[in-house]
Amino acid sequence: MEKSKYQRKDIFSIMKMAQQFQVTFVIVGLVSLLCRPFLFKNTMLFVMLLRYGLLGKKFKDTFGHVGNAILGGFVGMKKAENHGVPYSLTEEFASVYRMHPLLPDSLHLRDITASPGQNKSPPIIKEIPMNDLIGLKGEKTLLEIGVAKQLVSMGHQACGSLELWNYPSWLRDLVPHNLDGTERSDHVDLAALEIYRDRERSVAKYNQFRRGLLMIPISKWEDLTNDKEVIKVLKEVYGDDVEELDVLVGLLAEKKIKGFAISETAFTIFLLMASRRLEGDRFFTSNFNEETYTKKGLEWVNTTESLKDVIDRHHPNMTHKWLNSSSAFSVWDLAPNKHNPIPIYFRIPS
Ligand code: HEM
Repeated sequence: MEKSKYQRKDIFSIMKMAQQFQVTFVIVGLVSLLCRPFLFKNTMLFVMLLRYGLLGKKFKDTFGHVGNAILGGFVGMKKAENHGVPYSLTEEFASVYRMHPLLPDSLHLRDITASPGQNKSPPIIKEIPMNDLIGLKGEKTLLEIGVAKQLVSMGHQACGSLELWNYPSWLRDLVPHNLDGTERSDHVDLAALEIYRDRERSVAKYNQFRRGLLMIPISKWEDLTNDKEVIKVLKEVYGDDVEELDVLVGLLAEKKIKGFAISETAFTIFLLMASRRLEGDRFFTSNFNEETYTKKGLEWVNTTESLKDVIDRHHPNMTHKWLNSSSAFSVWDLAPNKHNPIPIYFRIPS
């Protein structure tokens, strides 16, 4: 197979930046790491901190961006800060984002012409296997279904969990198409390809990956998980050499911190990239202005907080009718969060 043409920076360049004691980066990184369970459960708080800083949204809307990233947030800083490393997503970010176990086996298609049932859920009309929703056939099927029905159906369906033995079977026999629409004979086993890609791109193995993040490596399988079945199979595949563990397998096998859906190792990469992708991007910093976005465009950006806002703009009645939960990222029929009178910044971490 041809060597990958992808050109991404590795995490060591990113850690080098931290070693240069770039105050903003280090402080935000440390605070984020210390508060990670809290931030993870309060994704909104994390996003608000990155975007508006400690002074908060009201202050920023009134006075504009004031001070550094900690006070005013990363968005709207006068100039992009790359810490000497050109803007890029890291290979490690792509690796931890390999989250295909999230995908279901089928889409539960909902009837959005019906009246909302309990917790605003629409009745299920049929289950469409994922194989019918990908490739050329998928394009046709999805065009017939239409965006509104797809959005509501996906909103009401939970995703898969990021565990071992939860990889969708349909992704293990994908049929690629040629440009003229004919099927190619060389099918893709995506589960195998993912491991192959990480190896060909020289992404560090699990232990080395953690060392790169200044996290404690494992010295035996029991450090990774308490699941006896997992340990047995890891031993069969890798013997006693924990250094051989592939990062993707390690991420899926790693015992989760309470409240986390992803591994702590993956989360640490997210923390680093969440701030870096904002502060290094000219469209969030030096070009975050009306000249670049137009007046209307900047107004849109500044009044858009969440996925719900985006959906509302395109389908004005959709979330009102079908979204019961507080966030469009939750399963839509969940109960909304209870009202909390304490401002988001002053809540005590649980
Ligand atoms: C219908 C759904 C999806 C299909 C059919 C699909 C298929 C694929 C395929 C075939 C590749 C391999 C490309 C290659 O290395 O040659 C890939 C890569 C990838 N996928 Fe998916 N995928 C789907 C959904 C998702 C989702 C939901 C996520 C994350 C939440 C995701 C994250 C990734 C990542 C991070 C890569 C690696 C990209 C890179 O190497 O730059 N995919 N996917």
